[in-house]
Amino acid sequence: MKGIILAGGYGSRLYPVTVSTSKQLLPVYDKPMIFYPLTLLMMAGIKDILIICMKRDLEAYKALLGNGLNLGIKISYEIQFKQNGVAEAFLIGENFIGNHNVALVLGDNLLFGDSLMSNLKKSKENHRGAKVFAYRVKNPEYYGVIEFDKNDKVCSLVEKPKSPKSNFAVIGLYFYDNKVIEFAKKVKPSINDELQITDINRMYLAKGELFAEKLGRGYAWLDAGTVDGLYNASTFVKSIQERQGIQIGCPEEISFRMGYLSKNEIIKNLSNSNQYSEYIRQILNEN
Ligand code: G1P
Repeated sequence: MKGIILAGGYGSRLYPVTVSTSKQLLPVYDKPMIFYPLTLLMMAGIKDILIICMKRDLEAYKALLGNGLNLGIKISYEIQFKQNGVAEAFLIGENFIGNHNVALVLGDNLLFGDSLMSNLKKSKENHRGAKVFAYRVKNPEYYGVIEFDKNDKVCSLVEKPKSPKSNFAVIGLYFYDNKVIEFAKKVKPSINDELQITDINRMYLAKGELFAEKLGRGYAWLDAGTVDGLYNASTFVKSIQERQGIQIGCPEEISFRMGYLSKNEIIKNLSNSNQYSEYIRQILNEN
């Protein structure tokens, strides 16, 4: 399975912070925002990853993550020239995806919870249709909203409805079979001229191939795309990290835990002494 991180968009909800930089490069507490979705794909066991960003930010992403070798993965890049919507990721990434299945994660999504790694690995093994996750939120009207019947089967899916039929938002992490490319080509621009990911998910739903899993209280799903969301995500990461002495979203740690790189390979790539590299050294020595 291949993986795509969509880090495009103008980040207009974070203006003026995003005038000169990409939203997904902003820090969420002590790391660039993109580390969090990147580690989700890595935890799923996905090692071939495409980052889609705006032209202006391409060099910055390359400076940060390079070709992925330092993490034992492969990273490539494509440009999204205009904010044409999430579904465009599969058109931009068509050659990259080839005939594989693909996972997509939005560059401003952060997911944390018990058994996350095993859940992600399991989702990657899903070979048919689409797998999405639903999470209860107070303000569903800002998201794709999913409605379940009494047997927890999906009965409707609507993008940013004025009157949401449930409190379940679809989070920005999706696992698809290869039909997603064909479906993405059929999506028509919505009122705001964007190709909506929800339209793709509705095509899977119509075929009876949309599988949605509710993430319960043991999970935290945060969207760092607004001023408050960014602040809250930073506070959350700081609280957990300080309390437990473990990092959330540390790619080197995940690379080690997934067996992508050995202890020595990771140590070789570490920069000099700073809080971040000291943490990684400590994790490597504990294991
Ligand atoms: C996108 C999707 C929406 C989903 C959300 C998750 O919205 O269109 O369905 O619930 O991501 O973050 P956006 O954040 O691009 O407005």
